[in-house]
Amino acid sequence: MDCLNNKLSIICLLLLLLLLLVLPYPSATLPLCTDLRAPVKPKKPLTFCPYDGKACCDSSQDSQLRQRFDALNISDSACASAVKSILCATCDQFSADLFKVQSGPRTIPVLCNSTTDGGAPSKSQGQAVDNFCSNVWDVCQNVSIPDSPFAPSLHRKTAVPESSNPYKLTDLWPSKTEFCNAFGGVSGEDSVCFDGKQVSVLDNEELMPPKGMCLEKIGKGSYLNMAPHPDGSNRAFFSDQPGKVWLATIPEQDSGAALGLDESSPFVDLTDEVYLDSIFGMMGLAFHPDFARNGRFFASYNCDKIKSPGCTGRCACNSDVDCDPSQIVSPDGTPPCKDYVVVSEFSANGSSSSTAEKGNPSEVRRIFTMGIPFGGDHGGQILFGPEDGYLYLMMGDGGGKSDQYNFAQNKKSLLGKIMRLDVNNMPSEKTIADLNLWGNYSIPSDNPFSEDKQLQPEIWAMGLRNPWRCSFDSERPSYFVCGDIGQDQYEEVDLITKGGNYGWRMLEGPILFQNQTTTPNITLVNSNDTILPVAGYNHSDVNKKEGSAAISGGYFYRSTTDPCSYGSYFYGDLYAKNIWAALENPKNSGNFTTTSIPFSCAADSPLPCSSVPNSPLPALSYIFSFGEDNRKDLFILTMSGVYRVVRPSRCNYTCSKENVAASTPHQPPPPAASSSNTGSYQLLNLLLPLCFVVFVLCRLDTVGSA
Ligand SMILES: *[C@@H]1O[C@H](CO)[C@@H](O)[C@H](O)[C@H]1NC(C)=O
Ligand SMILES: *[C@@H]1O[C@H](CO)[C@@H](O)[C@H](O)[C@H]1NC(C)=O
Ligand SMILES: *[C@@H]1O[C@H](CO)[C@@H](O)[C@H](O)[C@H]1NC(C)=O
Ligand SMILES: *[C@@H]1O[C@H](CO)[C@@H](O)[C@H](O)[C@H]1NC(C)=O
Ligand SMILES: *[C@@H]1O[C@H](CO)[C@@H](O)[C@H](O)[C@H]1NC(C)=O
Ligand SMILES: *[C@@H]1O[C@H](CO)[C@@H](O)[C@H](O)[C@H]1NC(C)=O
Ligand SMILES: *[C@@H]1O[C@H](CO)[C@@H](O)[C@H](O)[C@H]1NC(C)=O
Ligand SMILES: *[C@@H]1O[C@H](CO)[C@@H](O)[C@H](O)[C@H]1NC(C)=O
Ligand SMILES: *[C@@H]1O[C@H](CO)[C@@H](O)[C@H](O)[C@H]1NC(C)=O
Ligand SMILES: *[C@@H]1O[C@H](CO)[C@@H](O)[C@H](O)[C@H]1NC(C)=O
Ligand SMILES: *[C@@H]1O[C@H](CO)[C@@H](O)[C@H](O)[C@H]1NC(C)=O
Repeated sequence: MDCLNNKLSIICLLLLLLLLLVLPYPSATLPLCTDLRAPVKPKKPLTFCPYDGKACCDSSQDSQLRQRFDALNISDSACASAVKSILCATCDQFSADLFKVQSGPRTIPVLCNSTTDGGAPSKSQGQAVDNFCSNVWDVCQNVSIPDSPFAPSLHRKTAVPESSNPYKLTDLWPSKTEFCNAFGGVSGEDSVCFDGKQVSVLDNEELMPPKGMCLEKIGKGSYLNMAPHPDGSNRAFFSDQPGKVWLATIPEQDSGAALGLDESSPFVDLTDEVYLDSIFGMMGLAFHPDFARNGRFFASYNCDKIKSPGCTGRCACNSDVDCDPSQIVSPDGTPPCKDYVVVSEFSANGSSSSTAEKGNPSEVRRIFTMGIPFGGDHGGQILFGPEDGYLYLMMGDGGGKSDQYNFAQNKKSLLGKIMRLDVNNMPSEKTIADLNLWGNYSIPSDNPFSEDKQLQPEIWAMGLRNPWRCSFDSERPSYFVCGDIGQDQYEEVDLITKGGNYGWRMLEGPILFQNQTTTPNITLVNSNDTILPVAGYNHSDVNKKEGSAAISGGYFYRSTTDPCSYGSYFYGDLYAKNIWAALENPKNSGNFTTTSIPFSCAADSPLPCSSVPNSPLPALSYIFSFGEDNRKDLFILTMSGVYRVVRPSRCNYTCSKENVAASTPHQPPPPAASSSNTGSYQLLNLLLPLCFVVFVLCRLDTVGSA
């Protein structure tokens, strides 16, 4: 066990370092902690380090820093105060950058050593930047510090033998210049330095919501998932609920062309594996980040125990979570755990999977299988983390009304959770059995259970009802955002963080969940332990009928196509009458404001759009999901087809940042691929999502009116 964990952590560390080296670093400094977590507001205020707002420390790390500082027993108060600020810099929300984790971690942050500010006018308050490195030298040079954090050996130099003897800076370094050459640095466009105080990246440019969202229709099919080809090309995979996946070419913006997709020739057809019913089917699709070389891809779908003999596994209702399957009565009479959530690995084999036009429909390995106690709320999206390469699996609460078994708050249950699995290191059968895993995956050693032993090791975040569409901000991977479908009143958008508890069923969005009559043994969690949504909407905002709303979480818009939308997080309601932009002001503050955004379809759309009768709205029918391609353009996957966000001027929305003249097509449009359709499939394709919607409606109505 220990040995395995050690090996795993080494592998993890190596992988992490490798990823850090390989990953293109964004050009602007982003809030990120040295352990690559997103900074959060500590649950309890820090008492030693003077950091309020978001930070990279919790109160226990804060008290460890206090102990470390006390142990240094620095007599001189000016030096003590400088050293304290330096130790506390690990709590700064920019600590990953201050400690340069991408080029090998340092023991102390980059100390500002310049009286000018490195030519980054937005980043400093006038010319008042003092030469902090020089100050540190001046106040500490004659002070003896045991275990000095300034020892050159700690800075990958070997000038002075390692020892715990007290040293003065003058013992350790020949001169201030040498000292500041080693530890100094300046703030620039893409880096920050530490000047003794919390890093403040002033950014006066406030994000404004766009005037409108202009769409064009480029595909007729009805899909639940879109995944850009990991080779970075202008291709993307689309999958539908029955279980087919297509590889499509995305046309250039302004080319007038539609999606290049041949319906009669799917990339892979998994319809034999997938159990299809109103809310069941293929829910998720993910391509290994290294797919272009290893051909590995993953599908998340449902199977039915009665219909397919291969559909077996443990039930999420079991004695570990104080649940007795024989006591479960489903409203529609289905036996518990008739249906399963499955994640399977498939392969597009061949020497160059980048050119693979087909996947192999036979399963390579079963990654995950779990029976769901009630027939609903089973999420099913899968995503690879852009920084860690782990597979995230979104799971709903299992669909019991008001989560009557309180699964989402049960740390032993995987229902109502986001899981984080390592699919690069396959455990032995013995390990799977010993650790009681739900399939072939291993546990990342830094999953939250490493800090909270009560948590099931797969869990990354908890307290969700039915996470429906999560995404990582392509410019700030620490922003992992999910839409979470509510029950009676509120649809929420959550900023997911490691170990976060999003409150369901104690809270529905920000609202205390009232239905305690149906849940008599409810124990209210300390509201300090839950994280409130950053955005969302009341059901009454979209429909007066209680319960009839369902969120589809979207993306942070990062394309240059519509510069006025850049930085907005877009999400929508299933019923396609509302799309919102959530804007974070100030940047990186976690303070979001939400605006409902008008949307329409460009008159010159490659495929004609129809309108909702008696309304200016384009007839999207139902918004199932959003998608993003390798150019970071935004797509909306609806029952009536695939839509892409285009230049606002094509819909007459004003956006002063859009240079209309410059955005005429640079190149002749590629030939529009005509999608040939097979009639019966088309019909199926149309009917199934409708069933999905009808089911959601019916179920919500039951909930709302019972
Ligand atoms: C701290 O340093 C002072 C002298 O500077 C000394 O008297 C005291 O014993 C030291 N305390 C510890 C805990 O080392
Ligand atoms: C440190 O010691 C040097 C040489 O002994 C002296 O010139 C200097 O003034 C001292 N600095 C402080 C801040 O005490
Ligand atoms: C500041 O730090 C940089 C990077 O270590 C170094 O090259 C430069 O010489 C330092 N400047 C001063 C004035 O100490
Ligand atoms: C994968 O490889 C096997 C054995 O080499 C071959 O039979 C199969 O057709 C290949 N599948 C695909 C999708 O290339
Ligand atoms: C692991 O994968 C193999 C091959 O697909 C499968 O036979 C086995 O059941 C899987 N193990 C678990 C625990 O799902
Ligand atoms: C609630 O708690 C009581 C007493 O502990 C127990 O008898 C009862 O079965 C519980 N009800 C539910 C729905 O769990
Ligand atoms: C939440 O934290 C605050 C500040 O630490 C404390 O005053 C309050 O009592 C806590 N609330 C609960 C419900 O524990
Ligand atoms: C939802 O409704 C409540 C009360 O009706 C209101 O306080 C809250 O601001 C609303 N939230 C949103 C996001 O509209
Ligand atoms: C949050 O954003 C709103 C709107 O931009 C702004 O008025 C408010 O001051 C911000 N709050 C904080 C704490 O920054
Ligand atoms: C935009 O305005 C032009 C000229 O006023 C008009 O011809 C065109 O139909 C408008 N387009 C849309 C989508 O409203
Ligand atoms: C609680 O649930 C009942 C039936 O499920 C519903 O009628 C009622 O409106 C709900 N109450 C609240 C406050 O949502």
